[in-house]
Amino acid sequence: MKIAVIGTGYVGLVTGTCLAETGNTVICVDINEAKVLKMQQGIIPIYEPGLDVLFLRNIEQKRLTFTIDLAHAIKDAQIIFMALPTPPGGDGAADLSYILGAAKDISKLVTSYKVIVNKSTVPVGTADLVSAVFAENTDVEIDVVSNPEFLREGVAVDDFMKPDRVVIGTRSERAQKLMAELYGPYVRQGNPILFMDEKSSELTKYAANSFLATKITFMNEIANLCEKVGADVDAVRRGIGSDDRIGKRFLFPGIGYGGSCFPKDVQALAKSAEEHQYDFQILKAVMEINERQKTVLVDKVSTYYKDDLKGKHFALWGLAFKPETDDIREAPALYIIDALVSKGATVTVFDPEGMENVKNLIGDKVNYASNQYEALSGADALLIATEWSVFRNPDFELMETSLKHKVVFDGRNLYDLQKMIDLGYYYNSIGRKL
Ligand code: UGA
Repeated sequence: MKIAVIGTGYVGLVTGTCLAETGNTVICVDINEAKVLKMQQGIIPIYEPGLDVLFLRNIEQKRLTFTIDLAHAIKDAQIIFMALPTPPGGDGAADLSYILGAAKDISKLVTSYKVIVNKSTVPVGTADLVSAVFAENTDVEIDVVSNPEFLREGVAVDDFMKPDRVVIGTRSERAQKLMAELYGPYVRQGNPILFMDEKSSELTKYAANSFLATKITFMNEIANLCEKVGADVDAVRRGIGSDDRIGKRFLFPGIGYGGSCFPKDVQALAKSAEEHQYDFQILKAVMEINERQKTVLVDKVSTYYKDDLKGKHFALWGLAFKPETDDIREAPALYIIDALVSKGATVTVFDPEGMENVKNLIGDKVNYASNQYEALSGADALLIATEWSVFRNPDFELMETSLKHKVVFDGRNLYDLQKMIDLGYYYNSIGRKL
C-alpha cells in the first residue's frame, strides 16, 4: 500500500519504518528540513534499539523516503498517518494546533479518497474536529480514523511488529477494510484488531496510560508503607503479581513515573474529565502522589546527612527516564539533580545514552563521567535513578576503591539486600528494609 506519515518524531519514525518493513511504500514528511536531509542520507535522528537496521534497509530498498513536500507525500497515498505532537497547553489540556493545522493543509491538497489516521494521542472528540476541518475545505471524500499507538520506548520495534492489539476507531466500512489490510501482517499470531467508534478508540489510549500510571503509583504507595511497617515491597510485589487478575508487570516501585507520555496523558485525561464536569478523583491523586514520589530519594539523602548537603559530592547513575532510551523528558534524575545542587551539593553523572541530552539541557550544572566507575570518584554516595542493565551487576570491589564512603541510595531496587549488607554497604532503596 502507499502510505504518507506526517511528522517524523518518535511515533512517526517508528510507524513509517515498521510499515515499510512489511512491503508498503512509505513517504515521511517533516517541516524540519535539516532533519529530513539527514534522514535522506540514512542518519537516524533517535536512539531506539533495532530501529536503525530496519530504517537503513527500507531506505536502501526505496520503500522509505523523506521529504518536506506535503503535496508530493500525499499525492498517491491511500492512507495518511498524522503523528504530530500534542503537548500540554497552558491549562493541561492537549494542544491540538499541530494536528488541526496539518489537517487543514492536507484538506487543501487532496484530490481523491484518503483515510486520515490520527496516530497521536488526542482527546476524545478530535476525530470529529479533524473531520470538520476537511468538511470546511474540500468536497473530496475522506474518512478520519483514530488509531492510537501503544509503543514503549526501548522496545518500540517489537511493540509495532507484534502488537498485543491494534485499536482502530472508525465507523466507515471502507476505512475499516483498508486498515485491516494494512495491519494484517502484524497480527498473524492472532492478536486482535479491535474495531470501535472513534471516541472509544481515543479514550482507550488515555485509559491505558492512566491505568498503568495508577498501577505504578499504587505500588509506590505500598512501597512507602512497607518502609513504615517494616515489610519488603519485593515480597509484596511478587505476592500480588502472581494473581493473574493483577499481573506481574508494571508493579515496580521507584522514584515516580516519567517520560513523555504518562505525565502528559494523565494530566490531559483529568482535564478532559473536568471539561465534561466529571470529577476524576483517582487521577488527581495519582498526579499528586507522583510529584511527591519524585522527592523520595533526595529525602532519604537529606535525612541521612541530617539536612546538610553543603559541600557533599554525589555520583548519579542514570539520567534517561528509563533504560534503553536517551529520552530525558520528565526524567526523575533531573529532579534529583536540581534538588541536590540547590542544597549545595555537587554531582557527577553517568548514563549510557542520555548524557548528550542532559548536557544540552543543563550544561555544566553537573560533571559528566565517561563511564560508571569514573562517576564514583571521590563521591560521598552513589544515587541510582535508572535501571540500565549495566548497573545491575557492577564490580562492587572497583566501586569501593572509588567511592569515598560505601553508601548507595537506589531508586530502582537493583541489588539484593543481603548482598549489600555482606559487602558492608549502607544501602537505602525503595520500600525495603535498611
Ligand atoms: C508508555 C506506555 O507504556 C506505552 O504503552 C505507550 O504507548 C507510551 O507510553 C505512549 O503513550 O507513547 P513509555 O513512556 O515509553 O511508554 O514508557 P514505560 O515503559 O511505560 O514507562 C513509563 C514510566 O513508568 C517510566 O518512568 C518508568 O520508569 C515507570 N515505571 C514503569 C515504573 O516506575 N514502574 C514500573 O513497573 C513500570
